[in-house]
Amino acid sequence: METITVKASKTYNVEVGSGLLTTVGARLALLCPAPRRVMLVSDDTVFALWGEMAVTSLEAAGYTVTTFVFPHGEASKNTATLLNLWNAMATAKLSRSDVAVALGGGVVGDLTGFAAATYLRGIACYQIPTTLLAMVDSSVGGKTAVDLPAGKNLCGAFSQPIGVLCDADVLQTLPADIFAEGCAEVIKYGYIGDKQLLAMLETPFQNDPVPVIARCIADKRDVVEMDEHDNGPRQLLNLGHTGGHAAEKLSDFSISHGAAVAMGMVMAAKAAVARGICKPDVPLHMENMLRRYGLETECPFAASALAEAALSDKKRRGGEVTFVFPVQLGKSELYPVPAAELAALFSAGGAK
Ligand SMILES: NC(=O)c1ccc[n+]([C@@H]2O[C@H](COP(=O)([O-])OP(=O)(O)OC[C@H]3O[C@@H](n4cnc5c(N)ncnc54)[C@H](O)[C@@H]3O)[C@@H](O)[C@H]2O)c1
Ligand SMILES: [Zn+2]
Repeated sequence: METITVKASKTYNVEVGSGLLTTVGARLALLCPAPRRVMLVSDDTVFALWGEMAVTSLEAAGYTVTTFVFPHGEASKNTATLLNLWNAMATAKLSRSDVAVALGGGVVGDLTGFAAATYLRGIACYQIPTTLLAMVDSSVGGKTAVDLPAGKNLCGAFSQPIGVLCDADVLQTLPADIFAEGCAEVIKYGYIGDKQLLAMLETPFQNDPVPVIARCIADKRDVVEMDEHDNGPRQLLNLGHTGGHAAEKLSDFSISHGAAVAMGMVMAAKAAVARGICKPDVPLHMENMLRRYGLETECPFAASALAEAALSDKKRRGGEVTFVFPVQLGKSELYPVPAAELAALFSAGGAK
């Protein structure tokens, strides 16, 4: 097992290994000992596969467990589900000293984290991510949110968990396309600032994911510790996301997030070459890497449409966009790009 300590506004450990889910009760007890109430939150798919194992372990450690299970998918990450969860917490009489446990992907983690951050002005939240994306990205760093009809993640809070448990065994039931989505975020860490991770990814890691997952979490930890509230270096994590979010939106979300980020990364790297801040070997390396993990790299949308979609994104500041460009293999930097130059940038990045 590997343990990564995150020292943000709260200090907590992320534990990564195999066979950990059966020990969740004992692990949680080290952070906030039983007896206490636990609200275990999951989606229907994950709960059917892994719920019983988690509940059994928590009850064996002395916790009184109530479960809240909602239909899987991004469509559930909304204020209606949030309201139901708040009400379930109140009905179960959760007090300030009780705990919410999120068992699931990023949807479960973001929703549970936000409910816990706001119920009684904040109770503890423990994260058990079950997708690759949630393990390497959403469960660590304290961003919690729900979607509004006007857009994704528009309502949320920064609120760090009390601990994160990544059991690589649960990935065995994850469909291959959802695993590939997580691979886009894994690969992203390499091009942001981790050349050694890129070397590790030369060999497919599906059968031995713990070292790669732990390395990505440590990479995320490093930027979160520098900039918890996302005003500076944490924005490096948006590599591929300006173009990616735009492509996702233009496809009406038929292109998955991971696939869109893969396209966005390649556009950023090619545009960096056109600007003279990066050598052509980087986009080439990136395309080969992404294809190796089953990710498409061609963006089907026009540069002007991508720019328009990107400019309606919340991450814009004034008349500028903070853009992440790879500058060499294993290193990216932030650059302000005037909004008016965005279409030309995507065009240089290979968009139609
Ligand atoms: N908070 C953050 O910093 C952050 C960062 C990145 C993404 N996100 C958010 O994360 C969400 C995406 O997360 P996701 O990709 O994990 O999506 P998800 O939670 O919807 O999970 C994807 C699908 O996989 C299924 N699943 C999960 N674990 C499984 C398992 N072990 N076996 C079988 N099926 C399983 C789920 O039921 C779901 O249908 C988005 O809402 C995004 O906004 C948040
Ligand atoms: Zn992402």
